[in-house]
Amino acid sequence: MVEGIDIRHLASLYPDCHFDIEAEQAALLSADTIVLQLPLLLVLRPRHYKAVAGTVFTFNFAYRPEGDKLKGKHLVLSFTIGGPRQSCHPLGYNHFSIEQLMTPLEQTAYLAGLNCHQPIYSHGMIYIPGVYNTLDEVEARAKEHAG
Ligand SMILES: Cc1cc2nc3c(=O)[nH]c(=O)nc-3n(C[C@H](O)[C@H](O)[C@H](O)COP(=O)(O)O)c2cc1C
Repeated sequence: MVEGIDIRHLASLYPDCHFDIEAEQAALLSADTIVLQLPLLLVLRPRHYKAVAGTVFTFNFAYRPEGDKLKGKHLVLSFTIGGPRQSCHPLGYNHFSIEQLMTPLEQTAYLAGLNCHQPIYSHGMIYIPGVYNTLDEVEARAKEHAG
């Protein structure tokens, strides 16, 4: 636990995506910097992100006409990616760079007046015993990413 950081693991808090909208909006309001930690899934559509964008970032909260509550806060988009670096290439299976894939999320941030920073991402973040990576490798990458 790091002082001054409020970690809200949405998938554990709301496994069915039925958010406590008031609590989540209050958490956003109390933050200077918001870090959205997302796994890249087929591609970049984690359902908790979609649900947050649809129900917590609401009209008159995050968007016009009176939705300026997040304006000026900092947003850091942080991704874990199963594929190796070369997967985010026109000839790789993710085909696009992370910067290209994140443009819809960036647009959500712009609409809300958030100051969207360069994304932070790590590749090779999937562990399937005997198939992809070793646990030690993935844990080491996760620690580096968190740093
Ligand atoms: C349903 C599913 C779809 C995935 N799709 C992709 C993908 O399109 N590209 C990719 O590089 N990794 C993909 N992955 C790997 C995830 O990016 C990886 O498991 C995730 O980043 C690990 O983070 P987590 O431990 O927070 O889930 C997928 C994983 C799952 C379970």
